[in-house]
Amino acid sequence: MDYLQINGGKKLSGRVTISGAKNAALPVIAATILSDKPVTLTNLPNVVDIRTLLKLLTMLGGKVDHEGTVAHIDNSTINSHKAVYEIVAQMRASILVLGPLLARFGECEVSLPGGCAIGQRPIDLHLKALEAMGATIEIKGGYVHAIAPEGGLKGTKIIFDTITVGGTENTLMAAALANGTTTIINAAKEPEIVQLCEMLASAGVSIKGTGTSELTIEGTGGVPLTFPETRIIPDRIEAGTYLCAGAITNSEITLEAVEPEHIRATIDKLESMGFTFTIGENSITIHPAEVIKPVNIVTVEYPGFPTDMQAQLMAVAVVAEGESLIEERLFENRFMHVSELNRLGADIWLKGNTAAVKGVDRLYGADVMATDLRASSALVLAGLVAEGTTNVRRIYHLDRGYDDLEGKLAALGADIVRKKEQK
Ligand code: UD1
Repeated sequence: MDYLQINGGKKLSGRVTISGAKNAALPVIAATILSDKPVTLTNLPNVVDIRTLLKLLTMLGGKVDHEGTVAHIDNSTINSHKAVYEIVAQMRASILVLGPLLARFGECEVSLPGGCAIGQRPIDLHLKALEAMGATIEIKGGYVHAIAPEGGLKGTKIIFDTITVGGTENTLMAAALANGTTTIINAAKEPEIVQLCEMLASAGVSIKGTGTSELTIEGTGGVPLTFPETRIIPDRIEAGTYLCAGAITNSEITLEAVEPEHIRATIDKLESMGFTFTIGENSITIHPAEVIKPVNIVTVEYPGFPTDMQAQLMAVAVVAEGESLIEERLFENRFMHVSELNRLGADIWLKGNTAAVKGVDRLYGADVMATDLRASSALVLAGLVAEGTTNVRRIYHLDRGYDDLEGKLAALGADIVRKKEQK
């Protein structure tokens, strides 16, 4: 197993190019199931989760030609409608094939994803929406069996009582091929949803309300879609993580190929901590703070502060002067990084879903264990400023979602290398 070895204390400088967004690419890849014509996707990040979902397409019978940031996908040959446990267990987002498989083929079986390190993460809202569209759903042997009504899914009004990114995506894809009009009330508004809406619209699906919490979709009545080439949007979480790398090392670095508007909430928090920014059309430069001030954060849905940036901002708060309060509202168990940060010398107390972070003068390198994707990057960030050597283990979590994290950080001047665990 690989681990990352970091010798802390180096200032960073220079420019880093942000990759395509994993969380935008996953629903876009799932949406290609709605088509029986070849589709080309560009600006895909080089991360394990993308390869996992592409592999699932090939297991369903699709043809995938994937090299670097480009994938040519031909789903005209899909001949299986079953997303097996082996793949879904590796990546929860595989559940995103449920809506498109059901819409295009009228039936499918998708393994239940189960829990994960950051909490229970149910899919009840995905299932309720598909049932409202007329699907019959049965859970048997760990699989969701879904069957569309005779003549296909039916457009209807769906009200989500909790805002769900994946649930909105599955419903959007199902609605695109349904009969008639579907309205989604309390839809998620994340940039990933906007990308999916725009992709469906580029194939001729009429969608009103893109970027708002009410989406109205006119289904094609079962006619498969033809997509033009689709370019994945920049990864706002990767970008936010590099801003935090600049912040924790109090260095000046520039991010390129970013969409600054998507990272507004993170920039606002870092600004309140004393950092300043120069923002271009597709670039952001973070400038050092005179004093790193504490910050209060509550994670909420977009455009509020993202739960996927909570751990990284906490790492920065660890070296601030004063006490920060960080409240996690989306996932019940998303503080696994706290005990590992404390092993590096942080002073963090947890009470319920709030962390009180007392800034410390210095951190000391240690062996730490990655527990989930974003928690892992927080440990790497802390390692950048910890005195001595930090070894971040179990980095397969990082490889799921960060494109060449160590290469990009090393190019900015960090002393970081990937090593193999000795048996
Ligand atoms: C997506 C992101 C993830 C991010 C999360 C919240 C992807 C691949 N993943 O995950 O990185 O942290 O959004 O921004 O894009 N819920 C239910 N029932 C459901 C579905 C969700 O109760 O059927 C709850 C969840 O437990 C959670 C909240 O709704 O508390 C939000 O979850 P959701 O937006 O669905 O997250 P994901 O789409 O899984």
